[in-house]
Amino acid sequence: MKSIHKAVRDQFSQHADYYAESTAHAKGDTLEVILDFANTQGTEKTLDIATGTGFTAFALAPKVSHVIATDLTPEMVAKAAELALEQEISNIAFSVAAAEALPFSTASMDLVTCRLAPHHFQNVPKFLNEVHRVLRPDGLFCLTDSVSPESDNLITWQNRVEKLRDESHVFGYPPSQWDKMIQTAGFNIEDSAHTRNAQMSFMWWVRPQQNPPDVVKEIRDAFAELSPEDAKKHYTYEPSGNDFYFSWPMYAVKAKRI
Ligand SMILES: C[S@@+](CC[C@H](N)C(=O)[O-])C[C@H]1O[C@@H](n2cnc3c(N)ncnc32)[C@H](O)[C@@H]1O
Repeated sequence: MKSIHKAVRDQFSQHADYYAESTAHAKGDTLEVILDFANTQGTEKTLDIATGTGFTAFALAPKVSHVIATDLTPEMVAKAAELALEQEISNIAFSVAAAEALPFSTASMDLVTCRLAPHHFQNVPKFLNEVHRVLRPDGLFCLTDSVSPESDNLITWQNRVEKLRDESHVFGYPPSQWDKMIQTAGFNIEDSAHTRNAQMSFMWWVRPQQNPPDVVKEIRDAFAELSPEDAKKHYTYEPSGNDFYFSWPMYAVKAKRI
């Protein structure tokens, strides 16, 4: 079987341009809540993990001392570096690194951020231990990611659907499991928020150019298995002709390193 790191690189190396232009990823509540939770003073040595094409790192750069933007996929880092040059952001450095093995010194950061990525991580406890290691005592960790609802059936359903669409998906935990894992890694949770991404067209999200018709059908059939109540309440499901619109639940955490 393909390793998860290889699946991530295969997936994201093809999508750097698409991702850089995606307004769904550029803005939105998940970015605003990180900026709000970070409450920056202009002095922070900052690390943005799984930076993608740099949306979070670029939003933070003018508000902190400097940012190191890391990602596992060299093509995403290259695109982020190109965009930083174009946007004349000078207090940013780039590095190709796995979230589970960060090449930075212990207690070297004041602020660590990670947005919309841990559901692709091979080993979330290892990632959290690394965040804890690189942060100084009392340093801040701000995270947002897609999460499953607090229901065993929906945890199984959502992760099956996500994995069918994208083999680099690993696991979307429910908020209660995030809280436990973050606390176990040695953090105090200071704030948290439930949010969601912007509604997406199923036919856009499912990537029919990449996924064959039988897989698209299997995922569409999986949505039809949801009860109307769950579809509406947890996924904001709205039919629209031959398509439908939906969104994923998201969770944001502000945690202080003990
Ligand atoms: C949705 S994108 C990035 C989102 C980005 N943080 C933002 O705010 O726009 C997810 C990124 O996670 C990266 N990634 C996935 N697994 C990783 C890992 N184990 N370590 C580091 N980066 C990883 C992928 O290469 C991809 O660029």
